[in-house]
Amino acid sequence: MATNSKTTRKTGPVEVVEAVASAERAPAQITVEAKKKILFVASEAAPFIATGGLAEVIGSLSKAIASSDLYDVRVIIPLYQDIRKEYRKDFRYIGNFTVQLAWRNQYCGIFEYKAGNVTYYFVDNEYYFKRPGCYGYYDDGERFAFFCRAVLDTLGYIGFYPDILHCHDWQAALAAIYLKTNYCHRKEYSAIRSVFTIHNIEYQGKYSLDILGDLFGIGDEYRNFVEYDRCINLMKGAIEVSEAVSTVSPSYAEEIKHPYFSHGLDPIIRRNEFKLRGILNGIDPEYYDPATDASLFANYSSEHPENKAVCKEELQKMLGLPVKGNVPVVAMISRLVAHKGFDLVREVIEQALRSDMQFILLGTGESTYENYFSDLMKRYPGKVVSVISFNADLSRKIYSGADIFLMPSKSEPCGLSQMIASRYGTVALVRETGGLGDSITPYGAGGNGFTFHDYNANDMLYVLFEAFGIFRMKDEWAKLVKKAMETDFSWSTSAKSYEGLYHDVLNS
Ligand code: GLC
Repeated sequence: MATNSKTTRKTGPVEVVEAVASAERAPAQITVEAKKKILFVASEAAPFIATGGLAEVIGSLSKAIASSDLYDVRVIIPLYQDIRKEYRKDFRYIGNFTVQLAWRNQYCGIFEYKAGNVTYYFVDNEYYFKRPGCYGYYDDGERFAFFCRAVLDTLGYIGFYPDILHCHDWQAALAAIYLKTNYCHRKEYSAIRSVFTIHNIEYQGKYSLDILGDLFGIGDEYRNFVEYDRCINLMKGAIEVSEAVSTVSPSYAEEIKHPYFSHGLDPIIRRNEFKLRGILNGIDPEYYDPATDASLFANYSSEHPENKAVCKEELQKMLGLPVKGNVPVVAMISRLVAHKGFDLVREVIEQALRSDMQFILLGTGESTYENYFSDLMKRYPGKVVSVISFNADLSRKIYSGADIFLMPSKSEPCGLSQMIASRYGTVALVRETGGLGDSITPYGAGGNGFTFHDYNANDMLYVLFEAFGIFRMKDEWAKLVKKAMETDFSWSTSAKSYEGLYHDVLNS
């Protein structure tokens, strides 16, 4: 998929547009036309490329909405180098055209892939995307500006003008912004509405104002859309121009109105409160199913949970921990960054380790935490295992083999791990923030896990000891495991909330 790859393709852009147009006239397409058209714009989507929860949500939410007859759902992401061959080999080349980004004229190839009811498009440009990883380059602003311009040009190229352009996080913010600036004068684009979803308000896409025209190609007349705090702030721009804004849990929608959580954007959130909704993420229950998951040592379900003990035993063996069914295994699977609550863990884990427990950590991140947990493992052999890497297969073995899943985040827009752990019968212990508090309710009140309120290490430790106490009461624990496993974390309710949001946007 070279930048200027020669192609054996017989039809050029014009033919493609004609083909689409004539297909639309065919009777078989009439039902498709009647459907509302939704295009997700995002920087990653599972299973093709995933660095975090965003990708999972794009993959599973698009599938959930497309399962309704009412929506034609498509997704567009960059064609990164890291998208594996096993997927690429089935991508269909649609064509290429030139994208104009300020004074730059850049190649843009488009590939298509149908995953069930969802159509995916991949934006190809090797200069921008043939690099390892997705983010962290000096020119990320330019890379995602190119991507967003390419998205809008793709609509014309393939003849698909969505009713809703649903943009996710700052990397897709410019698609919403360009729609209301550089493209709104074009007839086909003028009816498109945009929805912007904030997955994490921490990352806003901030740039110096002097590159507004030269890099982003946005005229000075639109400067007030994106200007904030004497910078370009792309997330702010998308919030201002979109007809609706959502975020990934009801509690986070409240939290980001306050400076403690907003990373400076609370005045903008409050000003746009009338169009903000918090909709709790879900997970794909087929993708995360202990009854069928091939990574597990043994499969089980809430009706037949017996094999969870096998998963624990094999996990202990594999990690070199003493094989003990009656010792609680506490696990964390996380990026090792401060807001995940590692300060609390560091403060009290050694007190906890005085009691009979095992602790497993999987993740990579800031070197201070990587070093701390590697060292902890050396100091507590047979009790602590720290695996400083990311390994999807091992993560599933841990989700199934542990007893308690610890997630004491300082802030957490939604979080998916607590839901995955629960589905695998590993009881979540979380701090009540964002989606953690919206998905996990305290055992004491008849809930599906354990929670604590304040960001305080001793409060966390107290609840951890409470969990150990319940763990020793075998019947009580079995009931709690069942409750966790049977909590509905699917998209069924939340996909309906997004459909409601689309409906309101299209009818206002
Ligand atoms: C971000 C958030 C996380 C959320 C995910 C998916 O990664 O930090 O809390 O679950 O996006 O929306």
